[in-house]
Amino acid sequence: MPSLSFDTITVPLYDESRYFNPVRFNASLDFIVQRYPPQHFPQVIEPGIGTGRIAIPLARRGYSVKGNDISYKMLKRLKEKVNGELGSIPITYQLGDATRLQFRDRAFDMAIVTHLFHLVPDWKTTIAELLRVTKANGPIIMIDTGWGAEIPQLNRRYTELCSEFGQPVEPAGTYKEELIIKHFKHLGCRVEIINKRWQWVARNHLGQSLSFIEKRAYSFTTYASLDIHQKVVAVLKSELEAQYGSLDVEIETQDEISMVIMHSSDDKITKSGT
Ligand SMILES: C[S@@+](CC[C@H](N)C(=O)[O-])C[C@H]1O[C@@H](n2cnc3c(N)ncnc32)[C@H](O)[C@@H]1O
Repeated sequence: MPSLSFDTITVPLYDESRYFNPVRFNASLDFIVQRYPPQHFPQVIEPGIGTGRIAIPLARRGYSVKGNDISYKMLKRLKEKVNGELGSIPITYQLGDATRLQFRDRAFDMAIVTHLFHLVPDWKTTIAELLRVTKANGPIIMIDTGWGAEIPQLNRRYTELCSEFGQPVEPAGTYKEELIIKHFKHLGCRVEIINKRWQWVARNHLGQSLSFIEKRAYSFTTYASLDIHQKVVAVLKSELEAQYGSLDVEIETQDEISMVIMHSSDDKITKSGT
């Protein structure tokens, strides 16, 4: 099975459907800057860079960020976003696969990986590649930016309904953070979990969240055929109207930005595989 390229989602809705609390987001990036200042960790890689939601603010903070992505459309959007600033912000990107990074060993001082492993069947090879291109004392920071405009119970019901209609949502890679952590540990990394620091209560508009699902702004909405997707959305909509009386209501969601930082101090960890 190939990785899931975001050429399959509705790219113009990407950033809008993944917004987060800007104060918490800035605080989380400031944390990275304080821990790993750009003066000492200048070269950063982000495979699966997308539209640069994380890479652009990091580059603005002084890092030189290089990224890749298998989605032409996401990179095009990234290009549009940084176009006016390309000369002034140090960010470059290429069409490429996270399982075959086109960079030399130990080229980077730090790696960022955000919402990628659930899209890549061979995510263990991506981990091996991250360890290969990151210096021995360089952190690999996996960031979870939270729910954005998503309402967890909507997602759950959507996926349940897909199963009921005979097309279960089966991610190309893994959503299981514990599996990813286990694998990094297996490769000799020390793992540090940073959570409960950047939390907030999001108030998402039910109709808008449903519309992002309907327009296939999220990867989990792209696995079902169009026919089943439309049927599922219709059922979901009528269930929500029955439950809330209207789609014009706000739903509170406990949200959080968290990080898992992998430290690979052992210089022997290089191209080890699975
Ligand atoms: C959820 S988006 C995250 C984008 C960005 N990291 C962010 O947080 O906004 C995941 C991105 O990974 C890309 N992707 C999926 N499989 C990939 C692979 N094997 N190599 C490189 N990029 C991949 C998708 O096309 C998509 O743009």
